[in-house]
Amino acid sequence: MGRNDPCPCGSGLKYKKCCLGKKQAPLLGNLKETYLKKHGIRIKGPSDIEGIRKAGVVALSTLDLVEKKIKPGMTTDEINTLVHEFTIRCGAISAPLNYRGFPKSVCVSINEVICHGIPGDRVLKDGDIANVDVTPILDGYYADTSKTFFVGRPGPDAKKIVSVARESLRVGMEEVRPGNTVGDIGWAVQKYAEGEGCSVVREFVGHGVGLEFHEPPQVAHFGQRGQGVVLVPGMVFTIEPMINLGGKELRILDDNWTAVTLDGSLSAQFEQTILVTENGYESLTPYDL
Ligand code: MF3
Ligand code: CO
Ligand code: CO
Repeated sequence: MGRNDPCPCGSGLKYKKCCLGKKQAPLLGNLKETYLKKHGIRIKGPSDIEGIRKAGVVALSTLDLVEKKIKPGMTTDEINTLVHEFTIRCGAISAPLNYRGFPKSVCVSINEVICHGIPGDRVLKDGDIANVDVTPILDGYYADTSKTFFVGRPGPDAKKIVSVARESLRVGMEEVRPGNTVGDIGWAVQKYAEGEGCSVVREFVGHGVGLEFHEPPQVAHFGQRGQGVVLVPGMVFTIEPMINLGGKELRILDDNWTAVTLDGSLSAQFEQTILVTENGYESLTPYDL
């Protein structure tokens, strides 16, 4: 093994930049234990990955169903009923329901709502944008994914923010490979979204997922290249940038869940559950961006 070879500990770094410089010998098969101890991150094995991938199929079918049904005149609670009943028909459970007191089975976030919109009486109208965020649990495995849909015909602002949010997820995903860091993801998203004149929400971040709803690490959608945890194969986490057309500031409504833009501007989001592979990444909730 040469100084410039990949470090045997699996960090993705060159040996000279990693274990060669440390007192201890390379960790070899110990990476799983090290990531758990050092970062609280549970590296997934083949059977975990298979389980999350199957939950991902349910999640994507749910979004497909919503996309087919979403129409002006519908209430957000009708979307909740669709998602709840379809999830159960698939043999899965909706993770949001009763999660830390969340009262519904899906988050539906309209226009100025950034995230965690609680389904209710709000009626969708022509020109709205609606983020629908689903997380089924299938055989104990979680997959977390969302899309922002147009309701009826979008205006120019709606087109712009949805396009920037979609592309923000894409550029974040492109940073995922062993040896890169969570900071590289945030850096890429922030650079792109701010370059488009939009802003990146700071208070909500991507997260490890799979065995629980929210696991370490946190995956911020802003930050600096090279900062934070080094990505290694078997890590599974979401990337889910929330992008505002105006300022990044938010407030939480009196229901203690609904996050809205402080300036009332539109906000959009796309989310996928991403596995770090030996060569790069695989989305476990794949859809075209
Ligand atoms: N699905 C959201 C996420 O992407 C979390 C929603 S928590 C809930 O992390 F309780 F509001 F459902
Ligand atoms: Co998430
Ligand atoms: Co989600």
